[in-house]
Amino acid sequence: MVKRKMIYEGKAKQIFSTDQDDQVIVHFKDDATAFNGQKKGQITGKGKINNKISNFFFELLEEKGIKTHLIKELNERDSMVKKVDIILVEVVMRNIVAGSLSKRIGIEEGVVLDKPVLEYYYKDDNLGDPLINNFHIEVLELATGSDLEKINEMAFKINKILKEFLDKREIDLVDFKLEFGYTGDGEIVLADEISPDTCRFWDSNTKEKLDKDRFRRDLGDVESAYKEMLKRIIGKGEL
Ligand code: TMP
Repeated sequence: MVKRKMIYEGKAKQIFSTDQDDQVIVHFKDDATAFNGQKKGQITGKGKINNKISNFFFELLEEKGIKTHLIKELNERDSMVKKVDIILVEVVMRNIVAGSLSKRIGIEEGVVLDKPVLEYYYKDDNLGDPLINNFHIEVLELATGSDLEKINEMAFKINKILKEFLDKREIDLVDFKLEFGYTGDGEIVLADEISPDTCRFWDSNTKEKLDKDRFRRDLGDVESAYKEMLKRIIGKGEL
């Protein structure tokens, strides 16, 4: 399959067209940004690790009945995926208080929530991805009420599957962000990525942060945290 031309460049990935209208290639970069692009940097080897981890999780989810955009991994940094119309809602699922939730509700990081909390953010960089609710989503026509129900159901199921998998590897799944899209035939599938860029992972014993918060908060050892997550997930820390 040939990469034709770049049709989109995001902060961490590039999207290329292919000779198939309904398929695109995702290329994972080492670039990292935070705070809506205000902080910029590189995490050496991140692209390869995120491609591998995300594909691993998407395959695990597919096995458990969650439809995803993934078709196949092509090489260390590239994957073939179904071309989708991304729904402009970022779905965040939280099991433990951290990050913006801690600030918003005034509860310290680390408090375990009695049940998972689902949030929606409007995917719009110019607005800084504001928190929105189901009424905003319907009024803005980002998704219908019934599509949102499907998305919620998928998000809770994904949380359960990932949490169960990571618990066994002594990782706390603190929170994570999901994106969904419509395929050509109108099916809702999980898209984007699930990686240390888009999740908070804490070592269950030491509570050490093993995700992009190390970059966001200048905690150091960013590369080794990504490698450690790769090791916990696929069993080896090198590719
Ligand atoms: P938050 O606490 O900053 O709102 O982040 C919640 C989760 O969403 C966390 O796992 C990191 C992830 N996330 C992204 O993937 N992209 C983003 O732009 C932001 C702000 C958070």
